[in-house]
Amino acid sequence: MTAGPDGYTGRRVLGGAALAAILSRAAAAQPGTGLGAIARQHGFSYGCAVLGNLLQSNPTYAQAVAIEAGLLVPEYEAKFAALQPQEGRFDFAPLDVILNWAQARSIPVRGHALIWHEALPAWVPPALAEGPARARGIMQAHFDTVLARTRPRIRDWDVVNEAVANPPGSDNPSPSGPLRPTPWLAALGPDYIGMAFRLARERDPTLRLVLNDYGVEEDTPAAEIKRGWLLALCRHLQDQNVPLDAVGIQAHLQMRNAFSAPKFTAFVRNLRAMGLAVLITELDVREPDRVANGYPARDAAVAAWVGNFLGAAIEGGVRTVLTWGLIDRYSWLVTTPGVARRDGLFHRGLPLDWNAQRKPMWRAMARVMGGQV
Ligand code: XIL
Repeated sequence: MTAGPDGYTGRRVLGGAALAAILSRAAAAQPGTGLGAIARQHGFSYGCAVLGNLLQSNPTYAQAVAIEAGLLVPEYEAKFAALQPQEGRFDFAPLDVILNWAQARSIPVRGHALIWHEALPAWVPPALAEGPARARGIMQAHFDTVLARTRPRIRDWDVVNEAVANPPGSDNPSPSGPLRPTPWLAALGPDYIGMAFRLARERDPTLRLVLNDYGVEEDTPAAEIKRGWLLALCRHLQDQNVPLDAVGIQAHLQMRNAFSAPKFTAFVRNLRAMGLAVLITELDVREPDRVANGYPARDAAVAAWVGNFLGAAIEGGVRTVLTWGLIDRYSWLVTTPGVARRDGLFHRGLPLDWNAQRKPMWRAMARVMGGQV
């Protein structure tokens, strides 16, 4: 057993030297077939979100990603603020780090995210507020440059991220539904979503266009409402002949909420019955407020949760699964205040543990994507 951030080993607390020794062994000891290859052998695709600076600076991280991932998505580098920090000044250098790393290993990369209410550079919200014509111009200029530049390498983009509102009873309920109030909605009205998909299709007719969202996975009253809102939005877009190819379901799961496999499978089937592909785009797991004692019990519970969820997703027709990160140590569940635990413990919601070792979640994913239930 390897140590966790709190030094827990099941036996004793490790010192720095012992930890370093384990880390270097961890880097060397990733034998056998990775999750990406296991998935591919069974008709699935598995990948993860990556950070370019870690791919460059951290060999353990880069090696683990190279072994496990058959698909990558930039965790930050393709967001609006990263790509166009000032109006008309585009910066593709951070994204290129990921694209080049992936190309050298023949790993495809998906894009995330063209239109979102977060990761907007400071200049965008006031500029959007100048009026609809200006807002449309901003969207268009961003798509023109970004889609032309990424066209040879990225064939699959989250065009709009998190457009659906959070119903009452959610963690962060929106003041009104069913669309989330965002600077884009305020500037352009509800048609901003269709506009974004149309612009993307015009610029790149064979690009896969994805509507990505969260809060639709679990068996809670809020998720039930949000599933209805997301389905209604997809139906509305199709009625308007908006080119929508797929729905991405983020799947930031929370074990304090209930989960119903039959309900989730039915939801995925409903989307697929509309002719839409369904991807799991950002899978990770937050444990409940009170956790079991020790990693074995915690990891087993997380693995069972993920196995149940992924089984339901695959049953509904999902074939592409990405986790939001790969190694617990670098997970936003650990590094982002407000998402991280407040009790001094660290979430263990990704396939590899703090020291890049495969853990029960990895095995659950390998089992489910490997065709065993
Ligand atoms: C998160 C990143 O992981 C964090 O590092 C960043 O601070 C905030 O954004 N849904 C999404 C992702 O679509 O882009 C978010 O990524 C996580 C929630």
